[in-house]
Amino acid sequence: MKNIIVANWKMNPQTYQEAEDLIKNILEGIKDLNNTEVVICPPFTWLTDFSHKNEAQILFGAQNVFHKESGAFTGEISPLMLKNSKVDYVILGHSERRKYFGETNELINQKIKSSLSVGLKVIFCVGENEGENKEEVLVSQITEGLQGISEKDLGNITVAYEPVWAIGTGKNCGIEETQDAVASIKKIIEKLYSQNASEVLAVLYGGSVKSENSGDYLKDGGVNGLLVGGASLKAEEFIKIVKSAE
Ligand code: 13P
Repeated sequence: MKNIIVANWKMNPQTYQEAEDLIKNILEGIKDLNNTEVVICPPFTWLTDFSHKNEAQILFGAQNVFHKESGAFTGEISPLMLKNSKVDYVILGHSERRKYFGETNELINQKIKSSLSVGLKVIFCVGENEGENKEEVLVSQITEGLQGISEKDLGNITVAYEPVWAIGTGKNCGIEETQDAVASIKKIIEKLYSQNASEVLAVLYGGSVKSENSGDYLKDGGVNGLLVGGASLKAEEFIKIVKSAE
């Protein structure tokens, strides 16, 4: 399995020019990758312009999608629109969507199902808030989020462990704690599916990832990649993170 480095730009940058410069600079720094898949998830306003250009070195992802196929849903975007725009991935279940937009496990489950049905790959975010029981949160988010999804679809799902207290705070999760979370996630998947089910499942870590800590997570954290927020907005920093995965 290749390492996967995902850039979640969130609601940044504010101009097309800045977005285009960022992509260009990243592309220049990551030529000839062998071991690493790079997925960039810009806001919708810039996403499809970039995805249509079909850059060989990177894949593109959306930060959200609606679960209905088409119709009267003002302001929403369908999974098929993304698929038809050469977008390969979609981030679902992000804690910011859960917190600010009230997304429930049930809604996230519907979004995952409809995304998989058109052939999108899903980056499914899970993780506890400060003070919450990690184990309990992971069990309910994963069990409810993957309800009705078959084992053969797991190859198209990447679970991203993002403890909410580590996002944008500089307080990143320790390596041992990350290993524990990855082991818990795999155990939950094996219980829901079969003993071998977690073998095809990629697990990422996200939360205050920087070039100084990215290599440690990849080497010792038991993860197959990283979901990077703030540090993905600086080309030089993001390139270093990608290189640490090579
Ligand atoms: P930061 O890397 O800025 O902590 O954000 C992590 C994140 O939420 C990625 O989805």
